Amino acid sequence: MAGGKSSKGRPDNPAAAEAQCPFSKKAAEFDAFAGPYQADPAEALRWSREQLPVFYSPKLGYWVVSRYDDIKAVFRDNILFSPRNALEKITPATPEAMEVLKGYGYAMNRTMVNEDEPVHMERRRALMDHFLPDNLEARQEMVRRLTREKIDAFIDSGRVDLVDAMLYEVPLNVALHFLGVPEDDIAVLKNFSVAHSVNTWGKPTDEQQVAIAHDVGQFWNYAGKIIEKMRKEPDGTGWMHETIRKNAEMPDVVPDSYVHSMMMAIIVAAHETTSLASAGMFKTLLTHRQAWQDICEDPSLIPNAVEECLRYSGSIVAWRRQATAATSIGGVEIPEGAKLLIVQASGNQDERHFEDGDKFDIYRDNAVDHLTFGYGSHQCMGKNIARMEMRIFLEEMTRRLPHLQLAEQEFTYLSNTSFRGPDHVWVEWDPVKNPERATSSIANGNHHFPVGAPARRDIARKIRVKNVRREADGILGLTIEDAKGRSLPGWSAGAHIEVCLEGFDRKYSLCGRADGTDYDIAVLLEEDGRGGSRRIHEVAAEGLELRLRGPSNLFRLDEQASSYVLIAGGIGITPILAMADRLKALGRDYTIHYCGRSRGSMAFLDRLQADHPGRLAIYAGDEGARADLAAIVAGLHDGGQIYACGPQRMISQLEDLTASHPAGTLHFEHFSAQETALDPSKENAFQVELKDSGLTLDVAADVTLLDALLASGIDIACDCREGLCGSCEVEVLEGEIDHRDVVLTRTERAENRRMMSCCSRSVKGGKVKLA
Ligand code: FES
Repeated sequence: MAGGKSSKGRPDNPAAAEAQCPFSKKAAEFDAFAGPYQADPAEALRWSREQLPVFYSPKLGYWVVSRYDDIKAVFRDNILFSPRNALEKITPATPEAMEVLKGYGYAMNRTMVNEDEPVHMERRRALMDHFLPDNLEARQEMVRRLTREKIDAFIDSGRVDLVDAMLYEVPLNVALHFLGVPEDDIAVLKNFSVAHSVNTWGKPTDEQQVAIAHDVGQFWNYAGKIIEKMRKEPDGTGWMHETIRKNAEMPDVVPDSYVHSMMMAIIVAAHETTSLASAGMFKTLLTHRQAWQDICEDPSLIPNAVEECLRYSGSIVAWRRQATAATSIGGVEIPEGAKLLIVQASGNQDERHFEDGDKFDIYRDNAVDHLTFGYGSHQCMGKNIARMEMRIFLEEMTRRLPHLQLAEQEFTYLSNTSFRGPDHVWVEWDPVKNPERATSSIANGNHHFPVGAPARRDIARKIRVKNVRREADGILGLTIEDAKGRSLPGWSAGAHIEVCLEGFDRKYSLCGRADGTDYDIAVLLEEDGRGGSRRIHEVAAEGLELRLRGPSNLFRLDEQASSYVLIAGGIGITPILAMADRLKALGRDYTIHYCGRSRGSMAFLDRLQADHPGRLAIYAGDEGARADLAAIVAGLHDGGQIYACGPQRMISQLEDLTASHPAGTLHFEHFSAQETALDPSKENAFQVELKDSGLTLDVAADVTLLDALLASGIDIACDCREGLCGSCEVEVLEGEIDHRDVVLTRTERAENRRMMSCCSRSVKGGKVKLA
């Protein structure tokens, strides 16, 4: 399909899950401390993502949440889903262990991670400054210096355990430096960190509990001593010094108990997760050799490769929440007080959000949507420090040791519910082939990546046109292949790609066979368009090299409906064709209604007639045929769904006709957005209050709400930036909205509960309150 795209509809019907009991046999067998989950948490919960996305685990005493959208929803609502149990011992302490801890005066209290509102946001705001990207930028040099020192020490050895040689100590040194904590006792901190992790998220035996309690007690005392030492340096630098000063300035917001507990928790949080994520990153990349090779050849791929590693093999596997009221998640009823294990590692491979989700792909353009850092107001404050370190590790290693190989080894992991990364990563190389032996400047040259998440516009894979053909009047069909001859990622019906050519970025639905290694698209020449489709028509030829983003799917087929009506207008046939193929393969009940000016202008007619006989109705305008949309909607079976792609007037008519149908009946995708460009001379500035973060922002007349949110450090997804895709949606609590997107239905606009931040604004500059 040529032009921009927008989709609307419920991606997945939870009916199947609802119909099942959350206490199934598989749920009863689920063991968070054993076998499959410890070996590969995302794979272990594949069945759950597919069949039962929320289930009760009697062995754990927790409700397990496995799908991306559900996990995100839980993270977002920190009132209904309290973080209060995030640091609770998942295996209760034995009386003996409790006695030991008491002997040390252990009194772990709430920290930033597990406190409720409004206290949490008050503290977070008071202590956030050090984590802002601008304030982290100056630390890049120190991270690089420490990394280089470590690599210098082993580069001529030919074999090393990366964890022992670099990935443990550098993050710990960086963390201690960031916190302002003396670096005296690095060795002892490792034991303490492991003890804290096993104590909180592990399943120690009764005997182990006592030994661990001693380590944890000593860690508690050690943290106390560091605080005393730091209090004697009132001008000390680093985040913990700042916390201690805030403790003196505002003891109500940052009390003594908080300082001690935070010291203990942050020493672990600030480095352990980065060490584990970095170890996982090297293992993953060296296992996927092509990706490693691509990075060696093009270091600009590093920021997104790091995000993809965090998605595919991130160090934070699962987190915990507790329901403060009876509610439902993914259609499953949850009682008040229910404890939830929300498994980010599973959400990170959910096909509903990530096309071909279990495939490792450093070109994935939405890898940054991963949930490894959490989401919402409790999102990891140190995320940009971790990103910075992982990028520098990778940049230095791929430049200086591109011939690095994984050594033969058996990987081991600390058994627990929530953190994951190999204990050791043994690597080998031939030092004679070290590039810097031939060119010494290689040791010091490096890229600089700005602190923060990578920009989507920088991510694109190289592709090549394999075949060009005429599909209909003004429509070219293109088959494209990976420029290096690899398989392109898998995709699902309704998915699209973005083709980048000479500054034009245009989205096209995939319309070939979903099981192929190449992609097929159809490009309509748009006489009044912005020039992208014209340029493709001019230059498309076999062998032409292009760049491509995606695939992404914002027009997903719910495969649980009772029947389907597919409606296409003109070039809107492209996603509809893929859906028809999929429904045929599934053996489902479907009909296709295809409208166009004339048969000569309608692409894929022959293929549709051959592949979908008896299912297809063709309406060619020059033959006087018109689709009677009212009759088509009236004929929809109970539980049936409509998928439509075509011009605005067709979508509007279908919206009217389905207004009284159950939510999720109509799913649609547009060709193009309404005019969303800002004209500052006609716009009003307005203020936005953000309930979750407690911030108030000014949105100037020449700035979108999306840009104002991003500038204030709030991570918010965005794709099209023109009101088409729905990715930048925010929840509206108060204020009147001037909706300018083509995502929301009329009913949703009237409800005034959601808005697209890339284009919609407040009415007449009135204040808006968002969640
Ligand atoms: Fe796509 Fe806003 S609707 S980014």
